[in-house]
Parts: sequence; structure tokens; C-alpha cells
Amino acid sequence: GILIIDFGSQVTQLIARRVREAGVYSEIVPFQSAGPAFERMKPKAVILSGSPASTSDIGSPRAPQEIFDAGIPVLGICYGEHTMCAQLGGHVEADPHREFGRAFIEIAEDCKLFEGIWAKGTRHQVWMSHGDRVTDLPPGFKVVATSPGAPFAAVADEKRKFYAVQFHPEVVHTPDGGKLLANFVRKVAGCTGDWTMAAYRDQAIEQIRKQVGKGKVICALSGGVDSSVAALLIHEAVGDQLTCILVDHGLMRKNEARDVCAMFREHYNLPLILVDASDRFISELEGEADPEKKRKTIGRLFIEIFEEEAKKLGGADFLAQGTLYPDVIESVSFSGGPSVTIKSHHNVGGLPERMNMQLVEPLRELFKDEVRALGHELGLPDSFIGRHPFPGPGLAIRCPGGVTREKLEVLREADAIYLEEIRNEGLYDAIWQAFAVLLPVQTVGVMGDGRTYENVLALRAVTSIDGMTADFYHYDMTFLGKVATRIINEVKGVNRVVYDVTSKPPGTIEWE
Ligand code: XMP
Repeated sequence: GILIIDFGSQVTQLIARRVREAGVYSEIVPFQSAGPAFERMKPKAVILSGSPASTSDIGSPRAPQEIFDAGIPVLGICYGEHTMCAQLGGHVEADPHREFGRAFIEIAEDCKLFEGIWAKGTRHQVWMSHGDRVTDLPPGFKVVATSPGAPFAAVADEKRKFYAVQFHPEVVHTPDGGKLLANFVRKVAGCTGDWTMAAYRDQAIEQIRKQVGKGKVICALSGGVDSSVAALLIHEAVGDQLTCILVDHGLMRKNEARDVCAMFREHYNLPLILVDASDRFISELEGEADPEKKRKTIGRLFIEIFEEEAKKLGGADFLAQGTLYPDVIESVSFSGGPSVTIKSHHNVGGLPERMNMQLVEPLRELFKDEVRALGHELGLPDSFIGRHPFPGPGLAIRCPGGVTREKLEVLREADAIYLEEIRNEGLYDAIWQAFAVLLPVQTVGVMGDGRTYENVLALRAVTSIDGMTADFYHYDMTFLGKVATRIINEVKGVNRVVYDVTSKPPGTIEWE
């Protein structure tokens, strides 16, 4: 496989992801433990990541010298280029004009790294982000690409199979970057490209067994894709050492708790405790209109109930969570950062600190679509894997003005009809997320011969890649009319339906 040495770049995991996409196994190690990892793994090639550091800083990190003496290919990216050049006898300087963002490079020489992708003399878009630059090449190297801001945009010593690039091939803003990394791991390093999600699964299972040993694991199953995939994977690894707890807060979609429970118990034979805590949640939430207070109450109750259940089981040694890589980056880059809290997106946040258990997080390196692929590998039905995201606080944040049991019932019915129509129309997979919001506003209507005075229901549907930005979905008006008619006819308590045409930003996806 490939050893990726991490010098602290925000996007090192993206390098691993591109390598996985090329069908090649890789491991990321922090630079501090790169030496022993290199000895143990005996990789076919090494990739050096970027870094917030500068090679001119005293004590800035270096790659273990032996990787350059082992006769294997090495690729340096950004800081990786700088440290490689510095360690091999070149020179790097702080650059007075730092370069960030989109840039164009020109290919100066053909080389194995560019083979079949970029030809000599052509120009290509890349993503730059650096404050240092190489000024003298080490012996044996030549320039293979240049840019106005970086005369050494890409350099190579083809005899030793050393390559280095100033730009970031791992990010999407370098459109050919994935192919470039695939060239490195397959053509230059000679890896076969037959590594798959099935192999990932086996490796993850092995790792869980090693971590957990004979210990007991509990997992908060929400019915979402992430916690479900994590639970199934851990169950494959350690069987009934795992117990799942599903806390039904009474804020789920129609039949959700029941269906999820049935699926895991019957099809997967997973030890699963269903706790019906809806009364407790709803009585504490009743009358609370403030969105953040709702979230806090739900988060607190969730932890309390989960702890009670864990105690009944006699405790556990490990807590399993379906944390994904983007959650890891967000919590690192946002904690203590200058960004304001728009919404406190916590689900089981706070649990690990409170419960004094070790975490098992088998999805920590994966991105959402990879988790879906892994779920597929584990045999989860595609209809389950492809479900829209659903917020931890559930329908509570879709009842502005405060929840009551009756309002939740109305909302649940209307939401079910809306989603059923979306499925019937074949639109479900084209939409990132669709749901209804029950407004605390009553309007006058007329049904048959009578006057009605009932609530307004708003429909929302958005497209998005990652939930960070979103566009409202452009339905055909006939479809919306049909949904409105069905809801007003079938759900008592709603006499008017509106559609939300706000994108994010400036709106958020949820209303609270
Ligand atoms: P917003 O509303 O912030 O939502 O644009 C972006 C995505 O996050 C979901 N969301 C939440 N998920 N706990 C969650 O687990 C929360 O408190 C929460 N609030 C919003 C939302 O459904 C959308 O997918």
C-alpha cells in the first residue's frame, strides 16, 4: 500500500480518499510516528502532505530520511514538496507574494506523473495554497510544470521516481488531481488498483477486534445511515459484545422507530433495545418556543436516558459512534475559531465526556458517500442507504412556536404524505432533503360549505452536496398542487400549504 505522512494539513484525508478511489490501500500516519510506520508497513510508495508550517520555521517537521533512501517513489504535495526539496539538497524560501486559490500551470516537460492526463505545452487549472516556494532544485530534479506564482509548480527526478507539486491535487478545485494521484499510485508506484470497499470492511473489522478485545460496546442507534453502518460493522466484528440502544424521542417521522427496529432485529439479528421516551421528551418540550433551548433540552434528555439504559446493562467499556471525517474536521476547525454558532448541531455530543468510556469510531476516515458504499457492502438495502438526512432533534425543530403532541401528529401525517408523493413521482433521489414545517399561524379557508380556521403547512425541498449550501428544489407546480390538495384533504388541522423558495445561504435548510 501507500504510506501518507501527515504534516497537519486540513486536507490530508482527501489524499487518502483519492488513493482509495484509485483502488489502492493507504495508511495515514502523523509525521511524528512516520519512521516506525514506514518500517512496519514497507509501503510501495510514500506521499508527503501539506502543512500549515513553513520549512524555514525552527523545528518544522521533516520526513524520515530513510524514505528517500529506500528506492521507492515519493510524492510531495505543497509543504511535502518543500521539505522534500530541502531534505534532498535544494532550497526553499518564504515567498513575499503568498498564493491562495485557483491558478493555472503550464506543462514544461512530459513525465510519468502526467502521462495520459497533461501533455507538454498545455495549461491546466490547479488549486494553490502556499506561502513558501522552492528556489533551488535538489540534484537530479527538473521542472515539469510552472505557474506565474510558482516557477517550480511541479518538479521531478524521474530516475529516482521522486515527484513534487506546489499545488493541491487532492482537492476538487484541481479538476484532474484525482487522475494525477491515481497515476502516482498505479503507474509510478505500480499498485494494482484492485483494493475495494470490501477490503476496507475487512480491515475495519480487524481493527475493531483489536481495539475492543473482549470488552462490551454500546451504540446509540438513531436509524440514520451513519450510526446504522457503524453498528453493523461493529456487530460483524464483535457480535453480541455490542448492544444498540434506540431512544425514541417521539420526534421521528411516521413509523420510523418501528421500522428501524424491525429491520435491525429481524434482518440483522442485532441486539437492540428500543426505549420509548416520547412522553418524557414531549412533556419537557411542551411550551418551549426557543430553537436553541429545544435542542439543549433534547440533547440533555437524550444523554440522561442513554445513561440510564447503559446502567441497566451493567455499563460498557466502549461507546460506538458513527462520526464521519467531515464531523472531525468541523469540530477541529470550528472549536475556538472565530465562527459564530448558527445552530448547535448536537446529537450525542457530550456523551463520551460524561460516560468515561473509550470511543469506537470506525467511520472516522470516511466521507458520506463512502459510508453509503460501505453500507451497501454490509448488505444494507439501497433504499435505506439513500435516505434523506434527518436532524437529531427531529420534528421538534419543524414546529416553530413549540411542540405539542397534537401538532406533532399533524406534522407527521402531512410529512408522510409529502414524502410518499415525492417517491411516487420518482423525485426522491434527486432531492437532498424534503420535509414539512407546521407553522404556528392560522388562516381562514373554506371547505365544502363551511369556514375553516386552521394551520399553515410549509413544504421544503433542497438540493445540496454536503448540506453546507443548498438550493431550493424547482418542482413542477402541478406536482406541488397535487401534494397540497392531498394534505389539506387528508390531514385535519391544515387548510393552507405554501412552498419555501429560500436557498442557503441566506436561509438554512431547517427552519430552526
Ligand atoms: P441547516 O438547517 O443548518 O441544516 O441548514 C444543515 C443540515 O443539518 C441538519 N440539521 C441537524 N442535524 N442536529 C442534527 O443532527 C441538529 O440539531 C440539526 N440541525 C440541522 C439539517 O437537517 C440539514 O441536513
